[in-house]
Parts: sequence; structure tokens; C-alpha cells
Amino acid sequence: MSNSDPAKTTSRGMLKGLTRYGDAGFSLFLRKAFIKAMGYSDSALDRPIIGITNTFSDFNPCHGNVPQMIEAAKRGVMQAGGMPMVFPTISIHESFAFPTSMYLRNLMALDTEEMIRAQPVDAVVLIGGCDKTIPAQLMAAASVAVPVIVIPTGPMLTTTYQGDRLGACTDCRRYWAKFRAHEIDQTEIDAVNEKLAPTTGTCMVMGTASTIACMTEAAGMSLAGTAAVPAVMAERFRLAEFTGRRAVELAQLPDPSTFSSQAILTPQAFTNAFTVLHAIGGSTNALIHFTAIAARLGIQIDLEAIDRLGRHVPVLVDLKPSGSHYMEHLYEDGGLMAILQELKPHLYLDCLTISGRTLGEEIESAQNNKSMARHKKVIRIAAEPIFPVGGLAVLKGNLAPRGAVIKHSAATPALLQHRGRAVVFTSLEDLASRIDRDDLDVRAEDILVLQNAGPKGAPGMPEAGYLPIPKKLAQAGVKDMVRLSDARMSGTAFGTIVLHITPEAAENGPLAAVRNGDMIELDVPKRSITLLVDEAEIKQRLAELGAPEARLEIPATGYRRLYQTTVTQADVGCDFDFMVPVATRSAPLIKE
Ligand code: FES
Repeated sequence: MSNSDPAKTTSRGMLKGLTRYGDAGFSLFLRKAFIKAMGYSDSALDRPIIGITNTFSDFNPCHGNVPQMIEAAKRGVMQAGGMPMVFPTISIHESFAFPTSMYLRNLMALDTEEMIRAQPVDAVVLIGGCDKTIPAQLMAAASVAVPVIVIPTGPMLTTTYQGDRLGACTDCRRYWAKFRAHEIDQTEIDAVNEKLAPTTGTCMVMGTASTIACMTEAAGMSLAGTAAVPAVMAERFRLAEFTGRRAVELAQLPDPSTFSSQAILTPQAFTNAFTVLHAIGGSTNALIHFTAIAARLGIQIDLEAIDRLGRHVPVLVDLKPSGSHYMEHLYEDGGLMAILQELKPHLYLDCLTISGRTLGEEIESAQNNKSMARHKKVIRIAAEPIFPVGGLAVLKGNLAPRGAVIKHSAATPALLQHRGRAVVFTSLEDLASRIDRDDLDVRAEDILVLQNAGPKGAPGMPEAGYLPIPKKLAQAGVKDMVRLSDARMSGTAFGTIVLHITPEAAENGPLAAVRNGDMIELDVPKRSITLLVDEAEIKQRLAELGAPEARLEIPATGYRRLYQTTVTQADVGCDFDFMVPVATRSAPLIKE
């Protein structure tokens, strides 16, 4: 690479985004001087520069294979004539994020976006996996013009405990519920703890990480086949190598913006992703994340359209928590492409994917791959679904004027139409201190209500919507109750659980008006959630609460201030309001 005038040269590679010293030639001179300290030659630096995000962290076992993934991606980049440059970003693990991983998702999105923008990369390989990481990376991708390609870390393998196949974290909850109900003792729960996560990788049920990986592939942002291959398998590293190679091709396009996220993530691509969300019985969290990604692109996601979509798309995938298998079985049954094969009548097949082929072409290609013979045990044929309609339903009513969501494919059918007395917990602290008390006035047919666990109230909308069954009821054999909140729920959880009630209680949504003993009616077939209290009385109770800001205790400085003063509600994705463009693009989300 010469030191010629960078202003006269196409702005690629090392010439991109020169640090501003007021003299571009000096900026390039200085940049080269420093990077040569790492031993790079001019010919290495003349190649297309491919950024690779390093989200490895000792606190993130879901990303335990990232070093090997990076090596594989680098190999692919080098094979194709590019120069790989690895850079770190925030890494978020669900169990190592206080107060909750969602609180940090937007920070990771900002970090990733600005590092892509700041550094001279021609294309970027995004390696993510644990729940919030790929959403954060795609939010970043939606805000930059550089082509990016995602490669998930992939799911863990399973093992067994006394012949019972276990997986994180649906079975974490199942065994914890047994422990709370005194069905198993401390020795046994400790033994189970050793077995739940037997390899690196993401949770191996159809939790949030697997859901996001499937939706990302369906939306065209990762190569075909990348969603389901287990984290420790050789094939995953080969896919990382292919991803690196493809990144170089993207970087060398005459106009790389033709494969930017803006070009791939069209309204039709989002429809394909939400169609998959329904068909896999996927995580409710994905609704928020993909809404946030779309919002950054100026695409408004209409929750009622998502609900209508679900009325036509059956659940085809027999995976926990809606079914009974694990991601390794989905992989053996053909992975996402086999699901898409069954879903073809519901998909926009001409959507462009990051590979350069359309989604339809990718499905055809996978079908012709003889090594992916279908067993049809885990991925049902469309005529024999495991649930006749999509996995999620959107509810509205005087308790959730802007919507709420329930994963009815993982709920107790008898509770989907239910009227019960509210047992209210006003905060996470209140829940923790009273749920197991012997004197708690609660019966199996009651409805548990959690307030102030939403985006601003908690803050960070923790996965607290899976309220535990009160111990005395659990010990009496109660397995499920109707539970409502403005919180989220882990994609690995199950039960008759209404989530994301919007507006949240901390914003003086009607959820804040619910009191002990009020009657609530849930009617999922009618898509309604109703507080059976006179409207004037609800208004009066909300007026008595006063201004929300006074109750939130927002600090004067720091990230928490930024978060609580700018985070949006669940129906627009819980992004920072200043990241969502004012102008919106609208397009039909339903293929009529
Ligand atoms: Fe990382 Fe489940 S905790 S994917």
C-alpha cells in the first residue's frame, strides 16, 4: 500500500474512516506506522479488511467456542484474499448480567455499531449466540452501511441424568420446580446441576438463542445451515470458514451496499422471520428483538399483524419447551432449511440472502443435499403439526391497551380461558419476599400478577414473568397457574404466562391499577386480557399513583439514567428512543 493521497483513492480498507488530524495523508501514515507494530506487511494491509467481532468472555460459556470460530473465520478470509482483523465488543451472558441482560443489549448494540463505524472494515463477521448478543449485533448492523454476516456460536449438546435427557434451560426450570416441591432433595438437584450444560454453546432448546439463530437465517443474514449445527461440531467451524470467505466477496462488490443489512432486511424478510418464529414455537423475546431491529430500519412491526400471521402458520417443530426434543435433533432432521421447506407457501421466497442467492434458492439447494435426509420426527410435515396455529398470540384489552403476548403453544390448554382473582406483587423484591410465605392468601385458580418489572420499572425488563408457583401450592401438586406481568420470560420457560404488558406499570399502564382480589379474565381464543374493574375506578387508581418519574428513582448520572429516560416500550422493541428513526417505512407484513 502506498502513501498516495487518500482523498483521491476509493475509500476502502486501511483508507476508510481516517482519524481526523486535519491532514489525511498524515492520518494514513500514522495508522500504518502503528499497525506495522503488529508485524503486518503492506501487501497484507492492501487486502479487503474483514472485521471479526470477538465476543469471547470467561463469563460467557455460550461463547466458549468463539476462539475456534474466529480461527475458522480468519482461515476463510485469508483463503479468499482478505485480511481478517479481530476486534472485541461487549459480551453478554444471561446468568452473568446484573440486573438483567436486556439492560445491556442496547449498550452492546451501540458498542458494536460504533466500532464498526470507527474502524476501517470493508465487511464484518459477527459472531454471537447468547440471547441478547445477535439481536444487539443486528441492531448495530441495521444502523451501518457496511455489509455484515452473522455466524452463531450454535447450541450445546445434551446429556442424560438417570436416563432422562436434559437441556438448558427448560430442564433447569423443570428440576428446580421439583426441588421447590420437595420431590427431589439437595443431593439430586446438585447432581442435575452438573449435567444441564454439558458442552459450550447456547441453550439447546428452542429458547431465545436458538430462536434468534433460526430467525436470522430465515431473514437472510447468515448462511444457510448455520442456525442448528451444535457448537462443538466440526461442521460449525467449516460454516465459520465459509462465512469468512463470503465476507471477502461482500467486501469486494462494486457496491457493497447492495448487500448491506438495509438491502437484506426488508419488510418481507421480517415476515419470513416472524413466520419462522411461529412455526418453531419460538421465544417471546424474539418479538421484542426483531421489532427493535426493524425499528432501526424504519419498519414498524404491527403486533396484530404478527398475531394474524400466527393464525395461518402451525407449529411444526417438536422441540422443548413447546415439544420434547433438542436442537441437536433439529439439526439431524435437516435444520432450519427443512422447516422452511414445509413453510414455503407462507414465505417470500424471492428475498435476497447474504449468500447472494434468494431464500427459495437456498431451500432448493438444501433439499438437493443428500447428506441432510429428513427423518420427519422433529420437523413435522405441514399436514401434521404439533400445534395447529403459531406459537405466539398477541392479546389486547383494558389491561394491555398496547398489547401483551402469550406463548400458547407452551401453556396449559385448560387455562387459556380463565377467570381468576388477582394476587398482586408490586415489585421483584415484593415477589421474592412473599411468594413462598405460608400466610400468602393464594389458591390454585388465582392469577399471579407482577407489577413494575418492565423496561423502565425494573429496569431492563428481566425474565421474571415466569413467576414461581407459590411453594405451598407447588407442594400440593400445582404445576401451572395464569401469571401476568410487564416482564419478559426466558425462551426456555413454559406455562400459561402473559408477558410484555404494555404500557408497563412504571409508566402508569393499567397493570399498575390492579389490586389484590380484583377479578381478571384471560381469553386467548378471543385474544383478550381484561381487568374486570370499572373503568372510572381504574382511572381513579392510576391518578392516585402520581407521575411515573417520581416513583422511578432515576439517578442523576450514569448508564442507568440514559436507560431509564430513553428506553422505549416492548411494542417498539425496548431500544433507546434516539436510535429509532422518526420517519417510518410501512409495508404489508402479511402475505395475503
Ligand atoms: Fe446463553 Fe441460554 S444462557 S443461550
